Amino acid sequence: MSARTAHARDLFAPLGPTYDRVGAALSLGQDPRWRRFLVSRLPRDGGHVLDVAAGTGLVSAELLRRGFRVTALDQSPEMLAVARARLGGRAEVVEASAESLPFEDAHFDHLTVTYLFRYVDDPGATLAELARVVRPGGLVASLEFGVPGGLARPLWDLYVGVGLPLAGRVLGRGWDEVGSFLGGSIRDFWERYPLERQLALWRDAGVDGIEVRRLSLGGGVVLWGLRT
Ligand SMILES: C[S@@+](CC[C@H](N)C(=O)[O-])C[C@H]1O[C@@H](n2cnc3c(N)ncnc32)[C@H](O)[C@@H]1O
Repeated sequence: MSARTAHARDLFAPLGPTYDRVGAALSLGQDPRWRRFLVSRLPRDGGHVLDVAAGTGLVSAELLRRGFRVTALDQSPEMLAVARARLGGRAEVVEASAESLPFEDAHFDHLTVTYLFRYVDDPGATLAELARVVRPGGLVASLEFGVPGGLARPLWDLYVGVGLPLAGRVLGRGWDEVGSFLGGSIRDFWERYPLERQLALWRDAGVDGIEVRRLSLGGGVVLWGLRT
């Protein structure tokens, strides 16, 4: 297991029971809206969707609400325990790594993935692995944190540099680690993978017609496109 994978496992292990409420609060109430927008990109065809990095199942629940058949996948047993309680047998729940999916080629109609690519060693190879299990013409959609530009940037820097670490220390229960890690992780990812490079990785993975929407001044970024 790589150091990055091991870190992700340790980071999320204690978060499950408090993830939904604290995550929404730390994103200043924005990320529930970002998830709804992500899911709204999918055609409402009731197809079978693989929800990758499903965590506590928030995206999966939204997919079920919109009539999709859902398989929720994550590498964290602790996060998936909360997902199982939430989804209550209405979705298949699979513990596995996104870097090596236990499914045949083109097994799913569509795929959603949330906040994953900062936690894998090779985002391009992981994207190709995700695209592999989607049928041609199916939709691949991702949500990731972004770094706002312009006047919002200094405010974002202040929030992730001071506000988040402080909030993390007050909350404890694993959130102190998140508070000190998250801002640097988001910034580092966007330096290594600016949007143009991400789009190239998506095309190389076999996804075309890619569209991008920056939400909440760029704090959330949704990408989606069709499997070729
Ligand atoms: C920030 S959470 C996102 C959870 C949820 N999708 C949401 O909407 O909030 C990121 C999730 O990615 C999972 N994860 C990280 N690396 C992974 C990998 N290589 N394979 C599968 N899941 C992974 C973590 O266990 C965690 O549950």
